[in-house]
Amino acid sequence: MSIPFVEPFRIKMVERIKMTTREQREEFLKAAWNNLFNVRAEDVFIDLLTDSGTGAMSDMQWSGMLRGDESYAGARSYFRFEEAVRETFGFPYVLPTHQGRAAEGMLFQTLVKAGQTVPNNRHFDTTQANLLVLGAHPVDLTVPEGDDPLIDLPFKGNMDLHKLEQLIQELGPENIPLGMTTITNNSAAGQPVSMDNIHQTAALYHRYGIPFFIDACRFAENAWFIKTRDPHYQDKSVREIVLEMFRVADGCTMSAKKDAIVNIGGFIAFRDESLKQKIAQNLIVHEGFLTYGGLSGRDLEAIAVGLREVVEPDYLEYRVSHTRYLGDALSQAGLPVYQPIGGHAVYVDAGRALPHIPPTQFPGVALANALYLAGGIRTTEIGSLMFAHPDPLTGEQILAPMELLRFAIPRQVYTRSHLDYVGEAAVTCVKQAGSIRGLRVAWAPAVLRHFMARMEEV
Ligand code: F0G
Repeated sequence: MSIPFVEPFRIKMVERIKMTTREQREEFLKAAWNNLFNVRAEDVFIDLLTDSGTGAMSDMQWSGMLRGDESYAGARSYFRFEEAVRETFGFPYVLPTHQGRAAEGMLFQTLVKAGQTVPNNRHFDTTQANLLVLGAHPVDLTVPEGDDPLIDLPFKGNMDLHKLEQLIQELGPENIPLGMTTITNNSAAGQPVSMDNIHQTAALYHRYGIPFFIDACRFAENAWFIKTRDPHYQDKSVREIVLEMFRVADGCTMSAKKDAIVNIGGFIAFRDESLKQKIAQNLIVHEGFLTYGGLSGRDLEAIAVGLREVVEPDYLEYRVSHTRYLGDALSQAGLPVYQPIGGHAVYVDAGRALPHIPPTQFPGVALANALYLAGGIRTTEIGSLMFAHPDPLTGEQILAPMELLRFAIPRQVYTRSHLDYVGEAAVTCVKQAGSIRGLRVAWAPAVLRHFMARMEEV
């Protein structure tokens, strides 16, 4: 077929979006201190800031919401949610939370003490911050090829098992209260983690008595990549693959805003009931009672339906093809696109696109702002504004491994012509690349600075 993909849905409701002029966008960006997080969403034409909580829910999810049981304790909706989590991941116990970072917070506040270390293939920003505020050390151990935007390998999100074992031996397992892996690896260009790597990571943690948790946000996209890139799994269903991925884990944290296709929600799931009981006490103080955890009954219903819809092969095939289509459009526009293209987003090597801007002047932010000016498109930097941090020993600033610009795609929201439009704006940007200027931080908070930073052009 010559058509690259067809959306496996039709549209029942529309939301108007408004085009602005370049002059207006210059004003908006100036008022936002050159930080797209400060721009109003209505002043954005195509919003690719994040795929988190920005998806369109299905008719079945919306009708599920009408069934929401809003009882404080023991609501029917909770039990439907619990059943969907059990059926999908195989974990017997689950606690809902208002979103992913709350799940991480609850887990870490219960298990992690100041001075301890938590390894991960790569922590996402809020996961890292949840550890830093406890005085703990998040350590990232993605395989080296994950930081090479050009090498075309199937599972560049994998954990470096050799480095992981070295770290455990150096620190001693008693200083590692839990170990994690993130699927797909969002900070490493949305690259998937292979089944073998998940199982070997689990075995390694378990050999040293360390509990293993998966950051499960994009579990279905990861499973689809296993199915389509590892011949051993081509005849297995996505459901079977998901169960096999999670079989070796002690639990998971989940932002339902991604692969449960809802606008808010999250959870922590476990194999061990006593750990659930421990975390439940903290949950009641900070999130809510065990059977709602900061969500309404209708949110739990939407998650239960979303978890079942997201593993449908039609949906996943469309999802990955849609993202690849944008990646190909950006490559054709002349942007250096990270290869292979991930599931939820296209990542551009901004450092290479703007070689005249050093990492200390944030080429990812500069390119994001240029794209906004060119076409009202909002993207986000995944580079040194987000991830640079002082070395705990020397105090020297450690830069991010790559200066990436992420085009994250909301689920079931934009059509192919929206993506074509983004490709055209990229062509305009590439033509002007030489005149795009770097930025410096005029002001920023100490933790998670990219959200609130005020930036000035150099
Ligand atoms: N873990 C990963 C891998 C994530 O990508 C995110 C969120 C979280 C945890 C936290 O979940 O937002 O529900 O609290 N990532 C979003 C993004 C915000 O844009 O990639 P949350």
